[in-house]
Amino acid sequence: MHLSGDDMLRGLAEATTTIAEELTDVPLAVHGELPATIDGVYFRNGPGRFERGGQRYQHPFDGDGHVTRLDLAGGQVRYTNRFVRTAEYLAEERAGRMLYRSFGTNLPGGLFANLFRLNFKNAANTSVRWHAGRLLALWEGGAPYRLDPATLATLSKEDFDGALRRPRARPSRRPAPLLPFTAHPYLDAESGELLSFGLVSGAPNRLMLYRIGADGVMDPPRQHALNRFSFVHDFAVTGRWLCFLLPHADFDLRKSVLGLSTAVGSLCIATDRPMQVLLLPRTPGDDRPVLLQGPPGFVFHVAGAYDDDAGRLVLDVIRYGAYPQFDALEDLFRNPPDGAMPRLERLAVDPARRRCERLSLGPELEQLAFELPVTRPGVCGEPRPILYGIGAPPGRRAPYLTSIHRVDTATGRLVSRDFDADLVGEPMLVPGADGDEGWLLSLVHRVGQGRTDLVVLRAADLSVQATAALPHRVPVGFHGCWVGREALPDSSGD
Ligand SMILES: [Fe+2]
Repeated sequence: MHLSGDDMLRGLAEATTTIAEELTDVPLAVHGELPATIDGVYFRNGPGRFERGGQRYQHPFDGDGHVTRLDLAGGQVRYTNRFVRTAEYLAEERAGRMLYRSFGTNLPGGLFANLFRLNFKNAANTSVRWHAGRLLALWEGGAPYRLDPATLATLSKEDFDGALRRPRARPSRRPAPLLPFTAHPYLDAESGELLSFGLVSGAPNRLMLYRIGADGVMDPPRQHALNRFSFVHDFAVTGRWLCFLLPHADFDLRKSVLGLSTAVGSLCIATDRPMQVLLLPRTPGDDRPVLLQGPPGFVFHVAGAYDDDAGRLVLDVIRYGAYPQFDALEDLFRNPPDGAMPRLERLAVDPARRRCERLSLGPELEQLAFELPVTRPGVCGEPRPILYGIGAPPGRRAPYLTSIHRVDTATGRLVSRDFDADLVGEPMLVPGADGDEGWLLSLVHRVGQGRTDLVVLRAADLSVQATAALPHRVPVGFHGCWVGREALPDSSGD
């Protein structure tokens, strides 16, 4: 379907309208046949409030975190939604106005309202993950918030029994005594451990590395000093390595501290310069970190990684040739720059020869717009050739993503389903049993209808099995998780 820049901007404006209601355990009417074997809960997070005190956030990533809970059992669906009640959200609710700067929004009032204001809002809006009996709302610039998995009530900021505290923090003087924690932790399905990181700016900039055991206990964090400033959203984990793709970035601290620009406006990512590929041994030992030159561009998401028999790390990433300027939507959608579309690429990183090379996935997959990749959970470091994600039909130049894709990287085969002007959400895999691929769940924003549907597709061929209309419009969101019934506490559901 051809969409003009104006069509896309209208769709995005509708899909980023604040949601006002919070509902609890509402049964949804299901159309089609929802397989009765789907038994569990789909949690998803995303920005839900896009303005405060009459001031709209200037960047779509700044909206307050809003979590949806879809409980699927016996062919029925029940729906709950809640905002994440962070300390900043509660303070702004009480004040009825913006009190904190955000990633892409300064406080109203110009320079003096923002001068030396470094206590940014934890938006808690990027992902929601389940691990060791905890449901965590995640935002990479701050600490996780723990939610009740049955009610979505916000329970507390999660510091992992103090392990996430900054060393030598003096709470009376520091605005953020907890270390940041990525929205993309990696769950090793075999060991049950959760591996994660946080990027701490300073001199030097540091990657904090976290390991949380299957019992929920966090080890003391490791840290790795970076040789320059960078910005990283996701990482890869194999049996041997933690791998980070670090774009060439600069941050104008003076402009940000003085309030002359927003944090994102102070960030400059040179996508024409090579990224650094940083390999850190997964467990501290004899292996030394490896730093080598990768391709130019920028990567938000890693789709998968494994160690091959030649000792290389093979990495599927979603690469942008140009950093998408979501704070300048009109330009991005009316006059998209070359490189604005996310593309799937396979890289082979050879630590012995200190080389990174691109491997072909075939012309069809390399031309594909592809984002928010999802794979079947499995043994860490094993190749998982089937990827699911969202994207766009061929020929679209702006990142208005209306398609769900299934990609087989072993054969180069693509299956795709487009939803015309409707914006699709991350496809969450509900794995099937006995070799069955299972189903994908996606929240699809019905543009022009003021409605969001849960759409259930058969993962193998993307045929639509069932839809369930949510009681209200839910803005487009980011990431979530599927939790099978057996993993949930007894009080959850029903
Ligand atoms: Fe992400």
